Amino acid sequence: MADTLKIGNVSIERTAALAPMAGVADRAYRLMCKEYGAAYTVSEMVSAKGICYSDRKTAELCTVTDAERPMAVQLFGNEPEFMEKAVGIVLGYEPDIIDINMGCPVPKVVNTGAGSALMKDVELAARVTEAAVRAAGTVPVTIKIRSGWNHDSINAVEMAKAAEAAGASAVAVHGRTRDQFYSGEADISIIKAVKEAVKIPVIGNGDVKDLGTCQKMYGETGCDLVMIGRGSYGNPFVFREIAAHFSGEAYSPPDVDEKMRVMLKHIRLIIELSEKNEELAMHEARKHAAWYMNGYYGSAKFRGRCYQLSSYKEVEELASEFAELQHSRGL
Ligand SMILES: Cc1cc2nc3c(=O)[nH]c(=O)nc-3n(C[C@H](O)[C@H](O)[C@H](O)COP(=O)(O)O)c2cc1C
Repeated sequence: MADTLKIGNVSIERTAALAPMAGVADRAYRLMCKEYGAAYTVSEMVSAKGICYSDRKTAELCTVTDAERPMAVQLFGNEPEFMEKAVGIVLGYEPDIIDINMGCPVPKVVNTGAGSALMKDVELAARVTEAAVRAAGTVPVTIKIRSGWNHDSINAVEMAKAAEAAGASAVAVHGRTRDQFYSGEADISIIKAVKEAVKIPVIGNGDVKDLGTCQKMYGETGCDLVMIGRGSYGNPFVFREIAAHFSGEAYSPPDVDEKMRVMLKHIRLIIELSEKNEELAMHEARKHAAWYMNGYYGSAKFRGRCYQLSSYKEVEELASEFAELQHSRGL
């Protein structure tokens, strides 16, 4: 069995967690990753203000099902009053953890002063955290940050210390600045620096995509938990590989048949959980289909075809054709 860590009163296996990803890691995605061994999941980010004005999308985004647990609902916002009220409402959905987004780089969020803009105002970030902690009662509050706003203002350590003092129960650190968005390499030395500076658990994030990079993150930073985002695209198996390692079980990577089977299962789940009709749900599923086919012979051509899919029957046919092509090449 893998070790466990505690975030507040919540036990989490020290394998790998799924990172929050708006527009990607929805319920279907989280369920797939959880089934394959993700230790912990986080919702897509939800606007604290939107929740207070009972935005219709809120319920869908905040709902926590048992199979996704332990799971955090992630909020973004920069006004302590709205954060406090939003946390009170979100508690009704019984999340295991409330996470606050302080890393989102997109202008739509940053221009409101939320997401990674909070890294430019440590004192406000601490007040937002305090407000959430006050409202959350026994439910732990965590924050997710970047290394800093830009190269000249690396302040993850200061942010983490302020969050700890404000009552946060853990801090997740993505080793890129806001200015880097998702380009360049994550600097994991900043995660080590945060780990050395605070007593609360530290979650290391950035560019982990397999067992090797996961071990590097644990080994070089001393972090308490590793979190994976893009490395899980079309690849819930990454969690199985890591979980198998920590529990001493044998692991064999999926062959193309298993990949296609799991892709079809994932797409059935997208359709089943969608409030839209099959054709619109398939629009959502297209990118996932392309990701499952990534890295094989003919992937580029198939990617184009994935972006035309509009029914489950079509993706089933495409999956057989794709698998046959790989078999014909001896895979
Ligand atoms: C499409 C996409 C959506 C994301 N949405 C969120 C989000 O809603 N909240 C958040 O804290 N981070 C979000 N992130 C950042 C990831 O959680 C993660 O920090 C980042 O991708 C780095 O990890 P990785 O290299 O493992 O992908 C998003 C990233 C991507 C690629």
